[in-house]
Amino acid sequence: MSIPPEFTIDVVQANSPKEEQLYASFWQCGEPWKSMYRNNPWLTPPDMRKPLEWGEGKYWDTTVGRKHAYWKGRGLPEPTKDMHQMRRDLERWGFCLVEEGLSDAQCKRIHERLLSQAEGERRAGVQMPTPSGQYINSLINKGSCFRQCIEQNPAGIQAGALIEQLMNETLGSGWICHSFLANGADPGGYPQALHADQAPLFPLQTPEAPVLLNTMLIPQDVDDQNGGTLLIPGSHKILAEAGSGGEVGELPPTINLEARAGTVLIFDGRLLHGTGVNRTDRQRFVATMSNVTSWTRQQENWILTVSPEVLAAASPKLLHRMGLQAVTYGGTIEGFGLGAPGRVGDAFGSLKEFREACDQGTYIRVGELSAESSAEVLERDYTLKAAFARAAGQRLSRQKD
Ligand SMILES: [Fe+2]
Repeated sequence: MSIPPEFTIDVVQANSPKEEQLYASFWQCGEPWKSMYRNNPWLTPPDMRKPLEWGEGKYWDTTVGRKHAYWKGRGLPEPTKDMHQMRRDLERWGFCLVEEGLSDAQCKRIHERLLSQAEGERRAGVQMPTPSGQYINSLINKGSCFRQCIEQNPAGIQAGALIEQLMNETLGSGWICHSFLANGADPGGYPQALHADQAPLFPLQTPEAPVLLNTMLIPQDVDDQNGGTLLIPGSHKILAEAGSGGEVGELPPTINLEARAGTVLIFDGRLLHGTGVNRTDRQRFVATMSNVTSWTRQQENWILTVSPEVLAAASPKLLHRMGLQAVTYGGTIEGFGLGAPGRVGDAFGSLKEFREACDQGTYIRVGELSAESSAEVLERDYTLKAAFARAAGQRLSRQKD
């Protein structure tokens, strides 16, 4: 095969000196992490071949806000049912605490389910160990209590309506679930490196608003002893102010989260945080559900993860929250859903039927076609054709209504 020399790999590489590459220096600048570690060496993650250092001012070696020499008396968020206060806390500190967001019964159900699932996954050899402890992934398939939480259904999370409202304001309508997993901190584990969930690697900052908002369900008391999550209050603003690709100076110290069982922590996707060190002799779990703007790529590939049973029983709201409702800018299958508004329950853009066809082995994709294609090929029951027919049928029935 002969191609013009300008298109050969050697010439392409010779024509791509680093300084000439468009935008590459921005994507590869390593900020804000490079300056963060340079100006705050105490934030460097521990060497996991060695025992943890204490008494050296490292980021994991801290305490709860009300006992912290730097933070006490500065008005850090406290658990509250006052929504106005939550908004002020979220804006100023990057997190707020919903007092009794879970009722005692809801809290107990979630805690028991997590402990039992963790044990089951260890026995089945499918556990996911981390340096901190054990992850329990994809909670959607692991109990109705978790599905109710994803829907913010008060039957599973009594503060659901309040949380849903804060999500709507912060992420804009149509927001979807990013992932829902439980983070374990085991006795003897290492702290997680501090990070911001909405931009683990990229230099992009979104000073106007976060694109990810986390809810952490806390099914047991957490504090500086059992690995209360490490947070740098207000760091969401510091990262935002540094701007995309900007440098971060000296940061204020970390705290351990302190909260009673049943509290829901809501935190900004730009806030620096990480799993704390569990210094007790009992496993500690919290369950983190991240939600993102409707156009953000999700952490979990729900379309494959969701079990057939959960899919069959899912409410239109749960399907939407999984991202199984395509919209103009994302999630389409064979183009189906392009131009769809992404409304809950809309047949136009509904991806459920494609997944069901996959499960049943009946999915027929459109491949190479032409005027010469045989009648048999042209008349096949393409799954796409059925989806278009369903969408048209729904539109017609709406018009009749
Ligand atoms: Fe995180």
